[in-house]
Amino acid sequence: MDVVELGPSDTAAAVALWQETGLTRPWNDAAADFARAVGGPSSAVLGVREADVPVGTAMVGHDGHRGWVYYLAVSPAARGTGLGRLLMDACERWLSERGVPKIQFMVRTDNTGVLAFYDHLGYAHQDVVVLGRRLD
Ligand SMILES: CC(C)(COP(=O)(O)OP(=O)(O)OC[C@H]1O[C@@H](n2cnc3c(N)ncnc32)[C@H](O)[C@@H]1OP(=O)(O)O)[C@@H](O)C(=O)NCCC(=O)NCCS
Repeated sequence: MDVVELGPSDTAAAVALWQETGLTRPWNDAAADFARAVGGPSSAVLGVREADVPVGTAMVGHDGHRGWVYYLAVSPAARGTGLGRLLMDACERWLSERGVPKIQFMVRTDNTGVLAFYDHLGYAHQDVVVLGRRLD
C-alpha cells in the first residue's frame, strides 16, 4: 500500500478514525488539528487509503531540529498488517528528506499498551518530562 499526503477532503474520515482509535480528547478540536497540519509549511498528515478512505494516519511536523509525530492510528480492521510500521517509516523519511535529525513523539500515560509497539520498532524512552498549559 502507498503512503500519501492527505488533504482537506480527508478531514472527516481522518477525524472519524482518530475517534475510533481513542486518540481524540474533548478539549482538542481534531478537525482544526488536521487543517493546521495539512495547511502548514512544515507539517503534513500521511495516510494509507483503502477504497479511497484513510485506514491509517500519522501527523508529522518539525521545528527544524525535532520532528514530531501525532495521531498515529490504524483502523482496528487493518491492524497487524504492517501499516503502523509503514506509517512510522514514512514519517522518518518525510523528516529526513527535510534535513530534520530527530524524531520523537508523546505517548499518553494511559496508553501504555502501545509502548511495546514503539519499543519493537526501535524507539527509546527519552529522559524528559513534558510541561505545558493551554493558551486559549
Ligand atoms: C499502534 C498501532 C498504530 C499499531 O498499528 P499496526 O498496523 O497494528 O502495527 P503493525 O502491523 O505495523 O506492527 C508493526 C510491528 O509491531 C508489532 N506490534 C504491533 N502492535 C504491537 C504491540 N501492541 N506490542 C508489541 N508489538 C506490536 C507487530 O507484531 C509488528 O511486528 P513485525 O513488523 O516485526 O512483524 C495501532 O495498534 C493503533 O492504531 N493503536 C491505537 C492508536 C494509538 O494508540 N496510537 C499511538 C498513539 S501514541
